[in-house]
Amino acid sequence: MTTLNYDQAVSYYDETRGFRPGVSERYRLALQQTIDASPELRFLELAIGTGLIGLPFIIAGDDYVGVDISRGMMRQIAPKLHDCSPPALAQADITRALPFADGSFDVVQAVRVFHLLEDWRSCIGESRRLLKPGGRLIIVEIRTPTDTASPPPWAIVHDKWGEILSDLGLASETIRHGNGLTEAMAAAHIQAVGGAAEVIDLLSFAEFPVSCRTMVARRASRMFSNDWALPDDVFSRAARRLNHWLEHECERADEAVARRMVFRAVIARF
Ligand SMILES: C[S@@+](CC[C@H](N)C(=O)[O-])C[C@H]1O[C@@H](n2cnc3c(N)ncnc32)[C@H](O)[C@@H]1O
Repeated sequence: MTTLNYDQAVSYYDETRGFRPGVSERYRLALQQTIDASPELRFLELAIGTGLIGLPFIIAGDDYVGVDISRGMMRQIAPKLHDCSPPALAQADITRALPFADGSFDVVQAVRVFHLLEDWRSCIGESRRLLKPGGRLIIVEIRTPTDTASPPPWAIVHDKWGEILSDLGLASETIRHGNGLTEAMAAAHIQAVGGAAEVIDLLSFAEFPVSCRTMVARRASRMFSNDWALPDDVFSRAARRLNHWLEHECERADEAVARRMVFRAVIARF
């Protein structure tokens, strides 16, 4: 999982994982308020990707550095900046030693990446090394709010996909999205190594509306990283079954629903 190559996702990443206008800006403000940020803080974003989270920080003039293993993803950042100078970027594996001195940053943040890392504990260790005394590590995943009543199309299609793969004999570790890391696990590890951690919902937001048909099309186009390692024949059989389900069994296949989600953060100090 650590070596997932997002270069293959560059062409569709922003279209399928992007936020509605204003969401990333609100994310920045929510983070600033939560950590009581002063203007001179130095940020490192682990797995900056195409800059969906980092852009408002960079545009606002924050001292912002990004790393990612995929050059292709990071190449998308500069053209979005227009007149702004691009940030310092480095290609690196965030589960290994990063090219920065001890105590270089006030804030290290990682959004939508810890669930992909086999060796997430090393990444926490390296982040700790990079933080100044009193600095904070922010680990963020996008989660369904705890009070969600009915599953949105996204969840219905992914559950169906899991059921089909399981029917085709795949093991549950192969089917689940990511490494199964929860906020409680990350917080427990941080405390076990002598840090303090709290879990908070930074921001609630609505996604772009999507229908089950759109989600099936994305799934069948292999746009989700947990499908990239599936054998081609298994993937094709599963995709055929998913399409059959969409056409014959799925209720309200074309109803587009805007999912409400939260940025859930583990905020750590060491
Ligand atoms: C789901 S994207 C998230 C990108 C960005 N943080 C966002 O929220 O849009 C995952 C990113 O993590 C990067 N990545 C995955 N494993 C990595 C690793 N071991 N080291 C550095 N980057 C990694 C991928 O290249 C990709 O850009």
